[in-house]
Amino acid sequence: MNSNPTHQDTPAGPATGWWTRATIYQVYPRSFADSDGDGIGDLPGITARLDHLVELGVDALWLSPFYPSPQADAGYDVADYRDVDPLFGTLADADRLIAGAHSRGLRVIVDLVPNHTSSAHEWFAAALVAAPGSPERDRYVFRDGRGPDGAQPPNDWQSVFGGPAWTRVTGADGRPGQWYLHLFDSGQPDLNWDNPEVREEFLEVLRFWLDRGVDGFRVDVAHGLIKQADLADWQEPQEILSGQEIDKPRPPMWDQEGVHDIYRDWRRVLDGYPDERILVAEAWVEPAERLARYVRPDEMHQAFNFEYLLAAWTAPAQYAVITRSLEATDAVGAPTTWVLSNHDVVRHASRLGLPVGGKRPNGIGIGDPQPDAALGLRRARAATLLMLALPGSAYLYQGEELGLPEHTTMPDEARQDPTWARSGHTERGRDGCRVPIPWEADAPSYGFGPTDASWLPQPSLWAEYALDRQRDTPGSTYELYRTALRLRREHRLGEGPLEWLASGDEVLSFRNGGLTVLTNFGDAAVPLPAGSELVHASAPLDADGAVPTDVTVWVRPA
Ligand code: GLC
Ligand code: MG
Repeated sequence: MNSNPTHQDTPAGPATGWWTRATIYQVYPRSFADSDGDGIGDLPGITARLDHLVELGVDALWLSPFYPSPQADAGYDVADYRDVDPLFGTLADADRLIAGAHSRGLRVIVDLVPNHTSSAHEWFAAALVAAPGSPERDRYVFRDGRGPDGAQPPNDWQSVFGGPAWTRVTGADGRPGQWYLHLFDSGQPDLNWDNPEVREEFLEVLRFWLDRGVDGFRVDVAHGLIKQADLADWQEPQEILSGQEIDKPRPPMWDQEGVHDIYRDWRRVLDGYPDERILVAEAWVEPAERLARYVRPDEMHQAFNFEYLLAAWTAPAQYAVITRSLEATDAVGAPTTWVLSNHDVVRHASRLGLPVGGKRPNGIGIGDPQPDAALGLRRARAATLLMLALPGSAYLYQGEELGLPEHTTMPDEARQDPTWARSGHTERGRDGCRVPIPWEADAPSYGFGPTDASWLPQPSLWAEYALDRQRDTPGSTYELYRTALRLRREHRLGEGPLEWLASGDEVLSFRNGGLTVLTNFGDAAVPLPAGSELVHASAPLDADGAVPTDVTVWVRPA
């Protein structure tokens, strides 16, 4: 497959491809649509629901992992990078999904998990039976333990999910042997990216999926592949969902310089294919300038903007993060991305119902302070309308178009995220945002599948969020999204440029193309911009036509 990648020959300048302004919808396969009634979503289920994405008006879908996996971390523990787990279907089902999406004008991005394999991967099985110092062990990060009998882990690193980042294996003689590194669950051994065989393997995996027609890869833990060579101690606990603070030293396991060479190699592979295939980095790296280094012209195309996701719901915080994000990516000629929810964080309809500026919980459960649901949804709708008016590419997470809240009262026995056990039951983890989504109010499992089976329990109040209750219902969150995505396309909002009109403590306002956008964060209603007519609003205006608190409006000259 050798085409003419013309964009390689163009001089540096802002990128212009489809992805620079795309809205990309994250499908979490376990929880989107279940075709066979086993309670776990699957690829045929997704294919059967593709028209939903067309009707909603997104440009692409990103699929979280569907590869063979023991599911120790919901599929982010991959045992075979070139196949589909029977839970989700077959390779033929993946081909049908890709073809079905393409025939509808939707692009398809798949998840790639290069930082670690599953402990069920054949490489790890081979490493376990091989001797210390063997080529098999060198694909991973095996070390002798500390202390006289090697009973202490090689360093003090903590797993992101809690507990030590090292597990000791049993040697061929049946006695305790070396330790292996796993920044996540013990079922997710970290690969050794200094090993050329590892690099070669992933180039092949990229080609495998590119040849099947995928339009890109979302790269899991893109900031983690290279570790500081001395594996120096690092006392800090890990928190996946918080960025690196600017004034602290760089942790020895994240954002090391060597990762960039890897992505330059990958970019060359992608550029050998037609139609602009993309790489998007999941890299919890701050500040924005540091993150922008992942999207320099010869590296990845996009990086998730988690600083935006984490920003407080105040006018100054939102203004600061938006301007910083745009400046940082402009400096390298890349588009900015925006995201409010994904499968790792509390859904924004609930997160924004927690006290502003408070600690952001890793999951919410019975006995925890509960979000204000109505306030959360109101702010979520305002935040979404603000986000979808920003230039760049926006990521949506399945169910947010329904205004779905987090499941904040899930029984702890039902939880599956390894975080809950590994943290010694102190962090509830991410199950609350992963609950199968409701399609039909009156069907079993709310239409998620043909039976009432659902791998995580669905809250009893979810009928009111079902798609069939919201479709064609004026004022519903679904119709809010659908109209916003249509207008975003019509007015080419993804292209910008953005021109600020107000950036005070209470009101943010900017112009983008022919539209003016205003969000009211203050306590009092504010008038619509003079001489303008309303195009879209996240909630009704008040009786005298002013914009109430926590509302975003899109207007144009009357
Ligand atoms: C990423 C994924 C998360 C997973 C982790 C380990 O952060 O988004 O779900 O647990 O990587 O692969
Ligand atoms: Mg199923």
